[in-house]
Amino acid sequence: MSFLYVLKRRIQRNLPKPLQRKLQEAIYFALYRLSPARHQNFFNSGFSPAEAPWTELAPFDREPLQATLYDKVLWELTRDAAGGGGADGADWADILDIGCGLGGGVQVAHHRFPQARITGVDVNSSAVSVGRKRLRHIPSIRILQGNARDLPFADNSFDMIFSVGAASYVGMDAFMQEAARVLRPGGVLSFSVGYTDKAFSDQRGIVDALCEKNGVDVHKVVDITENVFAAIAEDVPRRRELINRVPWPFRDYALDWADMPGTMRYQEYVDGRRLDYAVCCVKR
Ligand SMILES: C[S@@+](CC[C@H](N)C(=O)[O-])C[C@H]1O[C@@H](n2cnc3c(N)ncnc32)[C@H](O)[C@@H]1O
Repeated sequence: MSFLYVLKRRIQRNLPKPLQRKLQEAIYFALYRLSPARHQNFFNSGFSPAEAPWTELAPFDREPLQATLYDKVLWELTRDAAGGGGADGADWADILDIGCGLGGGVQVAHHRFPQARITGVDVNSSAVSVGRKRLRHIPSIRILQGNARDLPFADNSFDMIFSVGAASYVGMDAFMQEAARVLRPGGVLSFSVGYTDKAFSDQRGIVDALCEKNGVDVHKVVDITENVFAAIAEDVPRRRELINRVPWPFRDYALDWADMPGTMRYQEYVDGRRLDYAVCCVKR
């Protein structure tokens, strides 16, 4: 493990939760502003096998595994939830991506739901400014800076909310509470999340309890660990190429951050200690 990564983990472990979040935000700020990965569309582990149309359609064809993960969450999982917003979600007018990063997922949603207004929100100002610039030519898309723990939207604002890889940073409790608040009755919330050393059955119980507390019904909870790990393994050449462009003092840190073979996170997958799952639920 890189010296910087060990240092970050040590410092983070000893901080109170709010400061842990601030440190994580600062790291993401630097990544989105300075790392070669800022030229990508996604900051997620991906889902294998990558599927059409993402394998052929620019700009997703450069990151088809990552676009496929978004597609699983916002399209496949939501198809038969509460009627799926009419035929193929055609009745959904307002859709939100929580923790949208550089805006790749917002574009996947625009492709699937071209009739909808799509909002992306992220706490990170550097990601927001990149996403805004990139997507300013699409009038039905807006990217806002905001914290998922206190979303800058009125109650009952969205027909569908999706999120990839952000809920564990926000904290599941606050994430579900805020998402349920801004979701309209009958609206669909679908998201993916990952943890270390957590059993699927325990997480399923936590999701059930959080749904009950926030007035939403569970539609599906799916273990996607195998697909995510397969995507990480398959994506090694692309990640290596990006890491080779990281300046020397940060290169080892980037290896850890990108879950490359030989790193702690990669080994957690090999040892069966990692869990990724996706949840789809419907507000009562
Ligand atoms: C793993 S990245 C995923 C980015 C994007 N969803 C994707 O898949 O490309 C997690 C994202 O969550 C955002 N995030 C973390 N905490 C947040 C919060 N409290 N409110 C909003 N966004 C947050 C980070 O800034 C980061 O962009």
